[in-house]
Amino acid sequence: MRTPFVFVARSCKAVHRLQQSPFFSPISALSRHQRVSVLRQTSTHPSKDDRSYYITTPIFYVNASPHLGHLYSAVIADCFHRYKLLQGFDSKFATGTDEHGLKIQQAADTAGKDPLTFCTDVSERFKHLFSRCNVSYTDYIRTTEQRHREAVEHFWSVLWNKGFIYKGSYEGWYSTQDESFLTPSQVGDALDSSGKEIKVSLESGHKVDWMQEENYMFRLSEFRPQLLDWLRGNPRAIQPERFYQAVLQWLQEDLPDLSVSRQRSRLQWGIPVPGDAEQTIYVWLDALVNYLTVAGYPDKHEQWWNVAHHIVGKDILKFHAIYWPSFLLGAGLPLPQTIHVHSHWTVGGKKMSKSLGNVVDPLERSQMFTTDGMRYFLLRQGVPDSDCDYTDDKAIKLLNAELADSLGGLLNRCTAPALNPAQVYPSFCPQSFPNQPGGRAVVEDYHMLDAVKHLPALVEQHYESMHVYKALEAISACVRQTNGFVHRHAPWKLDRRDSKDRRWLDTIIHISLECLRIYGTLLQPVVPEISNKLLSRLGVQQGERSWADVNFLPRYQGMDCPFEGRALGSDSGVLFSRLERQNVDQQKPKKTKKAAKVK
Ligand code: MSP
Repeated sequence: MRTPFVFVARSCKAVHRLQQSPFFSPISALSRHQRVSVLRQTSTHPSKDDRSYYITTPIFYVNASPHLGHLYSAVIADCFHRYKLLQGFDSKFATGTDEHGLKIQQAADTAGKDPLTFCTDVSERFKHLFSRCNVSYTDYIRTTEQRHREAVEHFWSVLWNKGFIYKGSYEGWYSTQDESFLTPSQVGDALDSSGKEIKVSLESGHKVDWMQEENYMFRLSEFRPQLLDWLRGNPRAIQPERFYQAVLQWLQEDLPDLSVSRQRSRLQWGIPVPGDAEQTIYVWLDALVNYLTVAGYPDKHEQWWNVAHHIVGKDILKFHAIYWPSFLLGAGLPLPQTIHVHSHWTVGGKKMSKSLGNVVDPLERSQMFTTDGMRYFLLRQGVPDSDCDYTDDKAIKLLNAELADSLGGLLNRCTAPALNPAQVYPSFCPQSFPNQPGGRAVVEDYHMLDAVKHLPALVEQHYESMHVYKALEAISACVRQTNGFVHRHAPWKLDRRDSKDRRWLDTIIHISLECLRIYGTLLQPVVPEISNKLLSRLGVQQGERSWADVNFLPRYQGMDCPFEGRALGSDSGVLFSRLERQNVDQQKPKKTKKAAKVK
């Protein structure tokens, strides 16, 4: 329960801070020159600690159980977080659940549960999924927590005190499913499943209702110029480029002011407007502030807030790229560094969603494919720019080819007692594989070495731009090249008793293990369990697995290799077992329901 006393104390603090703040006057009252300077201060704060990193997922609605699309958002963020940790960053990773709003209120009613019990149940399901899928968040936030309520109340009072919120009335279309207001041009006619004429959102297909209410409005219209300045000055703020362009396009048109509250009589399940118990704060304003709550707002939050990066699905881009930066500008806070946008998983060409009944259960699938199999498939096949259709077949083929046969096969071959009876990281012989042609290596081998040498930089570039699939594609291509190298020289045909042959055989295995060490290290953000198994088998210690350790094949450059001569780790079985179709067939996704058809 809210204590009014706490709120008064906080709002006094807010007013005091505001009076000292250069942002006290509404931005609209500033000249263009001043506005640009405000933006500079708000959008490009360098972090005091430039090794801090803060990554967020959207917080998930608890109206239904998690599906594969949700896991996808979370796994992308987890991959970024793990990658930054490997690079030596102090990384914070937040996820959680979005528990207020009409949609949740209605879902709890339908389930016959009180809203908080209902939210707790579903929120636990998300937590369970994340722990099963190794989503290693450092903070799990629920919008029903007291710390969040305090942050939202404070944030609201800052906007209110600065004059960005005013009492007004709203009349227009509202989609409860999307918790979104729509203009007439965003609405179309449709027939529901019983053939009745309804109005729907053209973007999501969800039903919309006409609403007319007294409520609080946010001066969104004033922020269009600042948003444009921000985007033009930060062309990498929204990635991929396609979505950056889409936001610029949206900003070509006027932005109407935004309703940021609902009448309490219609929406009880939410945070009351500070000082007006008849109104409830709009769920999106409430939800977006979660990113600040986790950073520590309204207390000390700069360390994390100045280095914030958001992962969002394309369906919620407008909220993150227009509403959120406007709220932040209004509150005089820095804008996020990057908004990374991903596309959707579809089934039979339709977005996976509870209302269509075509959801794929990520828990079921991660049991069948293993956690790492599931993660690998999502990140290898999911492309940020365009939607991807899900089928079990695709997953099975990809995982068998790349994890079981290619990567697993390579490890198996190079560590098998037949080729490696001493079970060590064997020696590299510079005469067999000299810097200049003349040894036993052929031109393709030099190409392979060159590709693996440049792989870490390439993978880093792809991870940085959220093109994880490209990073995995590049790793997979190198794994194929290494397999090609082994096949080409068929070490099993060499004679261990002949010293030249033995040196060459050891060199082939040494190089292959070095390649595997690089792949294992680079794959850690995507498949942590498989990487751990692989690196442990190679005898690579925990402290030798960071990004700084990817020094490929030092012996080729005449330097010492810390692994040479070291005993391999114990054999803990195949890296990834081949998947059999019939096991997967037993648990097929449910059939697609008929959706509302747009006329
Ligand atoms: N609660 C809001 C987010 C508030 S963030 C301040 C919300 N929740 S959601 O549960 O509907 O969606 C959460 C994330 O899951 C979004 O990034 C959304 O794009 C993603 N996905 C939901 N369905 C999806 C697919 N079918 N495919 C891929 N991701 C999808 O929106």
